[in-house]
Amino acid sequence: MSKPTVFLARSLPDAALNHISQFCHLRIWDESKPLTREALAHELADVDGAMLTGIGADTELVKHASKLKVISTATVGYDGFDVAGLAEQNIYVTNTPYVLDETVADLLFGLILSGARRIAPLHEQVKAGNWTKQTTAQSLYGQDVYNQTLGIVGMGRIGEKIVHRAKEGFGMKILYHNRSSRPEVEKKYGAKKVELHELLEQADVVVIMVPLTEATKHLIGKEELSKMKETAILVNGARGAVIDEAALIEALKQKTIFGAALDVFEVEPLPPGHPLLELDNVTLTPHIGSATAATREAMALRAAENLVAGALGQKPRDALS
Ligand code: DGY
Repeated sequence: MSKPTVFLARSLPDAALNHISQFCHLRIWDESKPLTREALAHELADVDGAMLTGIGADTELVKHASKLKVISTATVGYDGFDVAGLAEQNIYVTNTPYVLDETVADLLFGLILSGARRIAPLHEQVKAGNWTKQTTAQSLYGQDVYNQTLGIVGMGRIGEKIVHRAKEGFGMKILYHNRSSRPEVEKKYGAKKVELHELLEQADVVVIMVPLTEATKHLIGKEELSKMKETAILVNGARGAVIDEAALIEALKQKTIFGAALDVFEVEPLPPGHPLLELDNVTLTPHIGSATAATREAMALRAAENLVAGALGQKPRDALS
């Protein structure tokens, strides 16, 4: 039987490329050229599988891709992919769960600490030569994290890893809001499931970890932000559009909340002149939740394994449908 052919929109670390090459013919897009939707549709027309990390796919895009059996993404989030529509065309969509959970939770804790203690904005001040204030100046003050209340919106696997750090390392009380109850997290960490408004009213640190769907788009808007404490921080490690960014910017400008620490944005990369760049009560990172060498390699390998399985006509381990 001849090997199937797969298309990669971006190259991958060697281990992942080697795995794919054992089983498939590989075609990799030349990243010096923009991959337009038209060019992508053309590339998909004769392949058995594709890896489209960070690009997404819908039924229109694959309408001429008669051999396509799998679309893999080397991310855990899959908000740009029409999983149900593609499933109707017998195309699996796969993601990379589990392998990034601890790494993302580490970054989220970094954001929590920077948001509460103003590490990033104060670092900027020091670098700009503005370390002129007395150490007693109130403008240097942050908020405590230790012993405070953490509210997690979206208690999935990564949420649970954040809770572990919060409880074991920082003695935090844990509230969560989630569609389903998580009795094991309640038992292990004393976490309490509450309505969203209760979480927002009571938490000192609000962490957003829900996937982006129709239901969670702008879940946190003006009204929700108005329920948060003036001393609270909002941390987003999920997807930018879960928060109404315009409403958040207003809350940060008016200082109705203490600050925000964000790894994800409605538009990425943040465009020059974006209002968030002007604020001094924010920590901003460029969507690096899973960005360590070891974790990105593990994600690439897992995505490659899913791609190969699907291209060979098997159900991939991380098939989403
Ligand atoms: C993911 O894996 O979904 C992360 O957000 C990186 O994109």
